[in-house]
Amino acid sequence: MEIHKIFIVGAGVMGNGIAQVAATSGYHVTMMDIVHEQLEKAKAAIKSSVEKLYSKGLIDEAQKESALNIKCVTNLATVDDADLVIEAASEEREIKRTIFGDLDRMARPEIILATNTSSISITKIGAATRRADKVIGMHFMNPVPLMRLVEVIRGFSTSDETCKTVFEVCRRMGKEPIEAKDSPGFISNRILCPMINEAIFALQEGVGSPESIDAVMKLGMNHPMGPLALCDLVGLDVVLSVMEVLQRDLGDDKYRPAYLLRKMVDAGHLGRKTGRGFYLY
Ligand code: CAA
Repeated sequence: MEIHKIFIVGAGVMGNGIAQVAATSGYHVTMMDIVHEQLEKAKAAIKSSVEKLYSKGLIDEAQKESALNIKCVTNLATVDDADLVIEAASEEREIKRTIFGDLDRMARPEIILATNTSSISITKIGAATRRADKVIGMHFMNPVPLMRLVEVIRGFSTSDETCKTVFEVCRRMGKEPIEAKDSPGFISNRILCPMINEAIFALQEGVGSPESIDAVMKLGMNHPMGPLALCDLVGLDVVLSVMEVLQRDLGDDKYRPAYLLRKMVDAGHLGRKTGRGFYLY
């Protein structure tokens, strides 16, 4: 099936990044969030990003205009018009299952429902619908406009056709799709989040300061940013929720979240999005 119109659910950091890249790749994009202020914030983030990319000659005037004209809505009423839905809402299993139940009722039965979940089982999300063959994971990386990977995750019932279509959409968006099994954390977060969590253990045990821990990984391992700065970028709440999924679903306490991570999330220090995490913004 030809994809022209993409409907994005959730206008947070990931949702607005995906909406932007879809728009600059020639898709007609609608971005939905139940919180009006979140849509306003998302539009400002997209504007700032496309202006930077335009000033560097990485996108042209028409691409910039498409991103600035993304349609914003606060409910699912127009989802029946979409050819593909990409969900990037809250990282909570029950919320996602409710959203997918609603999407299944309201979107045309032949279209693919993708989720940007970073750790929740695609099979379980698919089971909340009557079209599990058309439910798939499209896991984008933050910041979406700059990162090349999309991890594509097949649930138990996802069809070859769905997978093929999603690979084509990723490539049209200028991304490199890589397939991973529907296992907790998939490939990316099975490896990344335990590394970040270990850096937080090192900090809580006084092995180094945030600056020295990050500097060791940047200067010694050539990582573009240190694990604590990366945790601030991804969101401490997201890392905590991934670690909880890994610990619970893999049944191994080696994935237990660091105490300091839990405390900082309780305190509302979620990283860049709240202006404070391991660093101040
Ligand atoms: N749009 C447009 N431009 C952007 C941008 C955006 N969203 N974000 C940053 N930039 C620009 C900056 O403005 C900067 O431009 P100038 O050089 O003109 O100032 C340029 O990109 C480089 O940025 P910085 O100088 O701030 O820093 P950098 O060179 O380290 O690059 C980075 C930034 C690309 C984020 C790089 O640090 C990096 O690759 N970090 C790792 C990111 C990563 O690992 N992401 C995956 C996280 S895991 C995930 O997302 C999945 C999950 O489920 C948890």
